[in-house]
Amino acid sequence: MPQEASTIIATPNHNVLTTSNGNPVDDNQNSMTAGEFGPILLQDFHLLDKLRHFDQERVPERVVHAKGGGAHGYFEVTADVSNLTSAKFLAKPGIKTPMFARFSTVGGEKGSSDSARDPRGFALKFYTEEGNWDMDGNNTPVFFIRDPLKFPDFIHTQKRNPQTNLKDADAYWDFLSLVPESLHQVLILFSNRGTPFSFRHMDGFSSHTLKLVNKDGVAHLVKWHFKTDQGIKNHSDEEAMALNGSNPDSNVEDLFMAIERAEYPSWTVYLQVMKEEDAAHYRWNVFDVTKVWPHGDYPLQKIGKMVLNRNPKNYFAEVEQAAFSPAHMVPGIDVTNDKMLQGRLFSYIDTHRHRLGVNYLQLPINQPYRTFVAHHQRDGPMNFSENFNGLPNYDPQSQAPQDLQEQRDDLRVKMSKVHLEGSTGRFSPRQSKGYKPEDDFVQPGNLYRLMKGPEQDDLIKNIVGHMKNVKNEKIVQRQIELFNKADPEWGQRVQEGLDAVKRPPRAHEKDE
Ligand code: HEM
Repeated sequence: MPQEASTIIATPNHNVLTTSNGNPVDDNQNSMTAGEFGPILLQDFHLLDKLRHFDQERVPERVVHAKGGGAHGYFEVTADVSNLTSAKFLAKPGIKTPMFARFSTVGGEKGSSDSARDPRGFALKFYTEEGNWDMDGNNTPVFFIRDPLKFPDFIHTQKRNPQTNLKDADAYWDFLSLVPESLHQVLILFSNRGTPFSFRHMDGFSSHTLKLVNKDGVAHLVKWHFKTDQGIKNHSDEEAMALNGSNPDSNVEDLFMAIERAEYPSWTVYLQVMKEEDAAHYRWNVFDVTKVWPHGDYPLQKIGKMVLNRNPKNYFAEVEQAAFSPAHMVPGIDVTNDKMLQGRLFSYIDTHRHRLGVNYLQLPINQPYRTFVAHHQRDGPMNFSENFNGLPNYDPQSQAPQDLQEQRDDLRVKMSKVHLEGSTGRFSPRQSKGYKPEDDFVQPGNLYRLMKGPEQDDLIKNIVGHMKNVKNEKIVQRQIELFNKADPEWGQRVQEGLDAVKRPPRAHEKDE
């Protein structure tokens, strides 16, 4: 027997290498053959076991947000918000809740660069005593679109061309130039905030308007803000481009190494709070995720602190298998009529089943481990729980032990109510009462004018650097028209920038 086979350490708890079913392995270096130079035997279970597992060790990557890093930590309440919400984990200052965060880019594949110009995902899982709450946001307060029907099309334009498998600047700007409500997010994305220095140096937002509901069932509309205590820090376009080549994992590495050095990143957590009845009269549709509530109208109220202080022990188990869903809510936090949010309530729990299987909530990283899970879902592939032993798998029922009989619907859980009237239909915001043609340009125009000189210079440079690759001149002109509508100077500067750089032959030039 070769020397090394008998001394291999498999895990800290075992001193013998085993097969997946626990049998000791006699030799991990030499396959079993028929004679010294003959073919391999089918009876070499260790070889087959090893190859078969390797052959199947990839799960599908996330269809978006495939590249990312994560860490464990806690959330601490620092202000009394019991008038706003009955959520137990927010009940009083001082309560600490364990949590897990995952940060990501959006469009690239699992091996793509951390410094790509892209929004960053800001996904948080709070392990509360009332089950898990997932706050699945971004590092931007707004989004490109406001109807989930557009999401797959939008993402297709950010990914690869179906024929060339290359990134496609024409598709990218074609879609955006035809969707004026995207302009606000385009502005943020093409500022240097589109290339954050690290995950530690960026803010996070719920982006959507959510609800908090108190013990009397009174609801308030809220937006969540997570402000980095490390300060905002971004890369210039040149720095980001250089990192694409020299260290495509710079952000994942930065987070991991900072926590290893015990430099624990933290975020101060704020809410913007609006009375429900005010929404109908507000200047902006509060359920339109392409709009912010200016802080002058709804100031930030400090309510907590989030600290990340523990690295994952295993990337696949804890980061890759983490599954966040906007539908995972605790009593006291509720959804709103934001159409995008409504679409997301379906999409995530659907994709999790595709990516991780129907029992993905039994995976340790996803388990609501601080509560007793009780339901009638049973069986399914890779069910590694006790499967509720002999408890009834139906309801209503009268046969469970008395103490479990009492675990009926929780009447303390107050649902917020939404009053609705009207007919069903497909409604365009542009045709809705009160819509003004300038609506999608006011907030981006204001933000453009708020930017300081060098910030504006970088914005124009970053836009020109990307748009110069567009071949179809009609697309360029349509997008410039959108910039013009927000601020004529913005459109003019992009046009001048494009005129000054070398561009690929335009579509109409090729035809001539
Ligand atoms: C990931 C769909 C809009 C933030 C994902 C995933 C899907 C998806 C299918 C992959 C999830 C997984 O495999 O675990 C959608 C749809 C949207 C939408 C259909 C619009 C209708 C948004 C918006 C935000 C957002 C508006 C931010 C405000 C995220 C984040 C992740 C993600 C942070 C990564 C979660 C993680 O780290 O695992 N989205 N998304 N998405 N989405 Fe969305």
